[in-house]
Amino acid sequence: MCKRFFKVIRKFAIGIVMFGFSLPAIAADSDWIMQPMSPDLNNTASLQRGANLYVNFCLGCHSLEHQRYERTADDLGAIPHELMEANVIHTGQKIGEHIQTSMSKDDAKAWFGAAPPDLTMVTRVRSPEWVYNFLLTFYEDSSRPFGVNNKVFPNVGMPHALLPLQGIQEEVCRGNRPIDLLDVQPALEQNRVESIKEGGPENCEELSLIPGSGTFSTEEYEQAAFDLANFLHYVGDPTRAEREALGKYVIGFLLILLVLAYFLNRNYWTDVKKN
Ligand code: HEC
Repeated sequence: MCKRFFKVIRKFAIGIVMFGFSLPAIAADSDWIMQPMSPDLNNTASLQRGANLYVNFCLGCHSLEHQRYERTADDLGAIPHELMEANVIHTGQKIGEHIQTSMSKDDAKAWFGAAPPDLTMVTRVRSPEWVYNFLLTFYEDSSRPFGVNNKVFPNVGMPHALLPLQGIQEEVCRGNRPIDLLDVQPALEQNRVESIKEGGPENCEELSLIPGSGTFSTEEYEQAAFDLANFLHYVGDPTRAEREALGKYVIGFLLILLVLAYFLNRNYWTDVKKN
């Protein structure tokens, strides 16, 4: 009986470890060097801007099936429900409903090859940082159906929804630039001159924006991508901010309890030690 119990426990432990190892594999499907991004759930203005961008640029394709408009309005700075219904809900839904897209799944599949996935959990499956970098790294690629490709999600089947804001980015490949001494010197040391001269996808490690092709400046666009990733981080776990705030009080309470317990303990032992 006992042996069997340990066998089950061992299998369970192995399962958990294997699952742990598989998580980075899901997240890391490109070797693009990510720009760091840490979400900020206390920044209500950012979350509100993210929600606004989401409704205007993403909801046409991606639902947030596990999130209600009402909860979003209440959490993001107590937005009045009438305001939410008048300005944010474009799909004819009621405030108490889940955030649905008006596009049918079959149409979407026919148009894009892959139906746009629901994004409620995307930052938990990928990460907020992944979504942020995904939104920053669309670039022109005429070989793709929508004329764009993505550095973080190679060959993505999604058009660049924020193109009017960001503008057009092009790949900068080492092979396409005149090679200056600074480029050649470290390569000479490693005998890599050939690969630098030839270019190729492994050498296209930079993106450059065609100036004036978008309405936002680079900083404004980075802020928009941050706000969207931040909003999706909130949606992935709407009670996180509440829990974290509550956590501080719990820790404070435990610290007070610790001090009391320490003195109580000392008090008990004074009598014992005397005898
Ligand atoms: C015109 C439809 C369309 C719009 C608008 C759109 N997407 Fe997408 N998106 C797609 C499709 C289709 C896919 C699936 C691509 C694939 O699997 O190759 C996708 C995939 C994604 C993914 C990857 C999901 C995953 O984990 O595989 C993210 C993240 C994403 N979209 C975010 C956004 C955001 C944020 C916006 C708004 C700024 C947006 N999308 C606007 C169609 C769209």
